[in-house]
Amino acid sequence: MKIAIIGAGNMGGSIAQGLSIGRLIPTSDIIVSDLDTAKLESLKSKFPELNTTTNNIEAAHNATIIILAVKPWLVSSVLKKLDLTKKQILVSIAAGISFEELAHSVVEPEMPMFRVIPNTAISQLQSLNAIATRNVSKEQETLILSIFNEMGTSIILPETQLSAATALTSCGIAYVLKYIQAAMQAGIEMGIRPEDAMNMVAQSVRGAADLILNNDTHPAIEIDKVTTPGGLTIKGINELEHAGFVSAVIRAMKASI
Ligand SMILES: NC(=O)c1ccc[n+]([C@@H]2O[C@H](COP(=O)([O-])OP(=O)(O)OC[C@H]3O[C@@H](n4cnc5c(N)ncnc54)[C@H](OP(=O)(O)O)[C@@H]3O)[C@@H](O)[C@H]2O)c1
Repeated sequence: MKIAIIGAGNMGGSIAQGLSIGRLIPTSDIIVSDLDTAKLESLKSKFPELNTTTNNIEAAHNATIIILAVKPWLVSSVLKKLDLTKKQILVSIAAGISFEELAHSVVEPEMPMFRVIPNTAISQLQSLNAIATRNVSKEQETLILSIFNEMGTSIILPETQLSAATALTSCGIAYVLKYIQAAMQAGIEMGIRPEDAMNMVAQSVRGAADLILNNDTHPAIEIDKVTTPGGLTIKGINELEHAGFVSAVIRAMKASI
């Protein structure tokens, strides 16, 4: 089965890498199209079997799955030229472009379509991929899930929840990074070298995430385990409350819808 990726930028390039590293699709069955030959050459130098082209139509023509990874404002013009048929599967990762808008730009609006919202951790194969579907069979859903599970974990949602998912995951990763940066700043003030502070905080964030993801637990239960009455952690937790930490996070998420 051939896969075409249109747009080899941050997302498209990461998807091309993730699929090439993964075992599901032979690298020689993947073709990546972009106007920027430097991006294509960079991918090709890492994965020589990968096919590349600057011609989107050629890339899409023989592919079963077409992953559209250009900027949202280019989606319509790029899609209109591809002449996709309903035997193909369209996967759009463009944030904010609805199925309705995608359908207006294809010849056969009833063709199977997926909208996928990954985040930049896709380059580490650690993305959370929020996926919505339209006119797809169970087999097609399973296929696309298994493809994106090669690059992290995936969750199927109604299209109406994709904006909220984008805030939590695509924008949310920046908020987590902001926490890491802030905690590093504190560490540096307390005399820790920046690289050491970064490793300590990043590993703590990874550990916290693993506690939640690998165990049947909840943040409140894990926080309770480290907040001894009269101890140090509860003092810091209460400082976060006084400073409006929870409210700031809720407001940030809601602002990015
Ligand atoms: N970044 C995120 O966290 C994130 C998360 C979820 C979804 N998304 C979505 O992912 C999509 C891609 O975002 P990105 O961050 O990967 O953008 P990007 O780095 O700018 O990648 C887009 C690529 O498409 C190329 N391109 C432009 N016009 C083209 C054309 N006509 N045909 C083929 N390729 C063309 C661009 O080349 P030039 O650079 O030369 O223009 C660039 O290499 C967007 O729709 C975005 O909404 C991004």
